[in-house]
Amino acid sequence: MSCPALPDGFDFTDPDLYHQRVPLPELAQLRQTAPVWWNAQPRGIAGFDDDGYWVVTRHEDVKEVSTKPEIFSSYLNTAIIRFNESMTRDQIDVQRLIMLNMDPPEHTRVRQIVQRGFTPRSIRKLEDALRERARRIVATAKEAGSGDFVSEVAVELPLQAIAELIGIPQGDRAKIFDWSNKMVGYDDPELAITEEIGTDSAMELISYAMNLAAARKECPARDIVSSLVAAEDEGNLGSDEFGFFVLLLAVAGNETTRNAITHGMHAFLTHPDQWELYKRERPATAADEIVRWATPVVSFQRTATCDTGLGGQHIREGQRVGIFYASANNDPDVFDRPDVFDITRDPNPHLGFGGGGPHFCLGANLARLEIDLIFNAIADAIPGISLAGAPRRLRSAWLNGIKELQVRYV
Ligand code: HEM
Repeated sequence: MSCPALPDGFDFTDPDLYHQRVPLPELAQLRQTAPVWWNAQPRGIAGFDDDGYWVVTRHEDVKEVSTKPEIFSSYLNTAIIRFNESMTRDQIDVQRLIMLNMDPPEHTRVRQIVQRGFTPRSIRKLEDALRERARRIVATAKEAGSGDFVSEVAVELPLQAIAELIGIPQGDRAKIFDWSNKMVGYDDPELAITEEIGTDSAMELISYAMNLAAARKECPARDIVSSLVAAEDEGNLGSDEFGFFVLLLAVAGNETTRNAITHGMHAFLTHPDQWELYKRERPATAADEIVRWATPVVSFQRTATCDTGLGGQHIREGQRVGIFYASANNDPDVFDRPDVFDITRDPNPHLGFGGGGPHFCLGANLARLEIDLIFNAIADAIPGISLAGAPRRLRSAWLNGIKELQVRYV
């Protein structure tokens, strides 16, 4: 179906588009006129002969795609629509060792193992340590009087949380943080991270994690690594599987939460009534509204395993289907006044953590906890905080990222 409102060649996965803003107005036009829309993509992905992908914009359709892995596969391609346009088949095959790009039953096996590390009890056990971290991060930033909220506040907690969760020794954390940061954002020339640096960092992180797994297998400790890799049988992860799992955590749990926190701060600073309300009442609903508002992961993709119908369109076997969480989270059929930032919004069935299918974000509760802890720490310690410049956005085709946010603390 054509969409007369969008110019020819408009590409929802073009990183340049996101350098300025998430294309919410264009996605809204599609929701109204062509909710499942074929975006002819001039520059396909190397190794694939398709020439475009479907853009799915309605909340209801995003959920449908997410919950039917037998029709909409994560394995046939990667979850990220245009992870890198020069990616080859071989490079995509490696990506399939990451659970985000697996289908059942393989995905079910890995997910059952790794979710042992993400039970409410495991997350609660981290709470005191993370609260203390959050307080220290905020105290240091406040002392400086002003600075970049991203690098001084939002970056640290998500990485510390992952390191705490999987038990990475303190002495190794700096290098883990460095590798993690180099693996994301290489669509942005300003960050000067080449694809080679990104790949090398990923390899180093995987090999570090494999060695950690091997050491714990030999000499188990009372930590999550030990319990996930205890013995290499059906019920546990192999060392290589553990390596790829840590790689996924470093990407999936790092920039996402960092951007939720940064967008949350920006939203509070531009909606002072909501910040006052937060300081007074600390509503438990705030974290989810921050995730809806930010929608750090703009879209993911699936690939059709057979001919099927969706939103009145005929989707052919092998075609790629982009599910736009950013659009679903602003769907007025589901959200009353979606363009209003309302930290008391309840219910809030946002799809920021995914559409409720088998890949639903494993770290959702940890992310909510981190968001709560950091804003509680800021509200407790800093009476006044104000913007000291416009946010600088990340150039990325799938992350709604802010790379710099200058603020002043009073
Ligand atoms: C999957 C978003 C934080 C670990 C996902 C998915 C989304 C997402 C959209 C895909 C869901 C789907 O395909 O149905 C977010 C956002 C976060 C966040 C917005 C922060 C605000 C975290 C954290 C961790 C984490 C803190 C762990 C430390 C994962 C993993 C998966 C995942 C392992 C893959 C699950 C699977 O394939 O079964 N996340 N995430 N995420 N997330 Fe998160």
